Amino acid sequence: MLFFSDRGVDPYFAQLQELSGECFDCTEVSPADIRFVDIDRRKRVIAHSAAIKREFRDLALPLETWLLGYVSVREDLRGKGLGRKAVEEILKAFTKKEEWAILLNCSLKNAPFYEKFRFERIANKASYIRDGKFVIDEDPVLMMYKSKSDITVGHRDTIHFGEDF
Ligand SMILES: CC(C)(COP(=O)(O)OP(=O)(O)OC[C@H]1O[C@@H](n2cnc3c(N)ncnc32)[C@H](O)[C@@H]1OP(=O)(O)O)[C@@H](O)C(=O)NCCC(=O)NCCS
Repeated sequence: MLFFSDRGVDPYFAQLQELSGECFDCTEVSPADIRFVDIDRRKRVIAHSAAIKREFRDLALPLETWLLGYVSVREDLRGKGLGRKAVEEILKAFTKKEEWAILLNCSLKNAPFYEKFRFERIANKASYIRDGKFVIDEDPVLMMYKSKSDITVGHRDTIHFGEDF
């Protein structure tokens, strides 16, 4: 089940909050431009992923840039391909686009999961504005992109993500 611009998410919102709480210790579920919600036959939310359009001024890329987040699978159902599906369903929305870059910030432990989709590490840390404060997350930043021109994105120490997702 793929929701664009959050249309249709309402009946599942409480379950999405619960999944976020289980996976990220935070029950917030921010609005998104593209959202994938996987539901089983019993109408339980089993996986979630979301992307928003976001400008990354540090990179100054001549591409539409996006932030991928909330990639999460119920703990008891991990290791069965649902995480892969959650990422691939979001990526499907990009297949028709000519040029784009998708960034994410994940734990060191999860970086190999994203590398399976050809995301590459481009920075060691991400900075955010969180609750009005400037904070640094000491977690890698990964990026995947499609471009008609040659683009070189060197490795950086920190990339600013702006407001948290
Ligand atoms: C990360 C997460 C989404 C993976 O979901 P999952 O359903 O277990 O993953 P899948 O079963 O689809 O695995 C897909 C592939 O990635 C691999 N993989 C899964 N988690 C991995 C990890 N942490 N590190 C390296 N590889 C990983 C699997 O072995 C599998 O490889 P294969 O296709 O070559 O067999 C899930 O563990 C999760 O929800 N974690 C908590 C929330 C979280 O940390 N999300 C990431 C936020 S940045």
